Amino acid sequence: MSILITNIHQLVQVHPNNVMLVKGNDMKVLPIMENAYVYIEHDTIIEYGPMTECEGFDPETTIDATNKLVIPSWCDSHTHLVFAGNRSKEFVDKINGLSYEEIAARGGGILNSADQIANTSLDDLYTQSLIRLNQVIALGTGAIEIKTGYGLETEAELKMLKVIGKLKKDSQAFILPTLLAAHAIPDMYKSDKTSYVNQIINNLIPKAAALKIAKYIDVFCEKGYFSVEDMDKILAAGKNYQLQPKVHVNQFNILGGVPAATGHNALSVDHLELLDENDINALAQSNTIPVALPGCSFYLGIPYTPARRIIEAGLPLALASDYNPGSAPSGNMNFVVSLACVKMKLSPEEAINAATINGAYAMGISSMYGSITRGKKANLIITKPMGHYREIAYNFGDNPVDQVIINGKLWA
Ligand code: NIG
Ligand code: FE
Repeated sequence: MSILITNIHQLVQVHPNNVMLVKGNDMKVLPIMENAYVYIEHDTIIEYGPMTECEGFDPETTIDATNKLVIPSWCDSHTHLVFAGNRSKEFVDKINGLSYEEIAARGGGILNSADQIANTSLDDLYTQSLIRLNQVIALGTGAIEIKTGYGLETEAELKMLKVIGKLKKDSQAFILPTLLAAHAIPDMYKSDKTSYVNQIINNLIPKAAALKIAKYIDVFCEKGYFSVEDMDKILAAGKNYQLQPKVHVNQFNILGGVPAATGHNALSVDHLELLDENDINALAQSNTIPVALPGCSFYLGIPYTPARRIIEAGLPLALASDYNPGSAPSGNMNFVVSLACVKMKLSPEEAINAATINGAYAMGISSMYGSITRGKKANLIITKPMGHYREIAYNFGDNPVDQVIINGKLWA
């Protein structure tokens, strides 16, 4: 299988030398090549260059991208895409004035999704999730992290993990599975959280690790959910099974989760709607990438992650969708990029860097994804006609994607 894309108006995120992530001031730079071509064989970017040098190829398929752009597929490093049913009733409660915390306190929220998972078969859960996965692929996502976390008891968590494993096997998208071992405290453990944490450590983590599906481990470190001490214990247990942390911290309160997570060599710390100097200092001394989830801030009406402070401190930043039924019921990364520009004051260059190469870093795959580099995986978006990449962010709510190439194949 070989594809030649010709007459590309702007080839975006071109790096002759491979990059792993971009930080601080470097995020302002988004390298492009105008009037360019890309040549793909099997699943790999083999060559690119100016049209004047496009010679000697004998592709099976040629795509004329006149007036269009080619950019690397979105790398969405934080999703809860596997869930059952939806929580649209809670959406109405929210419109009527209830907060996320108030909805959760009434038995809604994560516990509501856990009830729905309990009543859904593995096959049905797979079918529901595959529809969403295919929707986000069509919107340009080529690599995606997917978490468990709505099981809240061992068998249901393993069911979720198996669904993620089957999606990973069946889909052309590159999927990174995360065991969100500690997402909420089930009712039966309400007055005995320690037993629940022990149950996660002694039962869930070993059984999940035996399936060899999960790569990462996550904890929701928040008041009313899991403390820093709980997170410490769970991450240490995960480490025994080579599960690297990617954690939910600082969504509603600063509990000290950021320095604790960097201390565990977390790959990413996600949410950070609140952030203090101590957190910035901990991040500056680590290889952990901060991940902002503006779709969650938009939907819940909570503060946006202080992206300018993060970038001006010289740190990297990734953007992800947080696709889930309760706090971000959309996996549309095009909208996430727009929101980041409008609400977090990222430049289009910074936002596209955050949603491609830095998103890939936040999944540990930036050596193979997230930029147009020879030898990297051919996961590309061909946009609708547009004059400049900044229009992707500018035309919020539009779908800029015309065609998607995923794993070297044209996505129908
Ligand atoms: O990332 N904050 C915790 N977890 C999810 C929301 C989960 C839910 O409400 O279903 C999040 O926002
Ligand atoms: Fe999340």
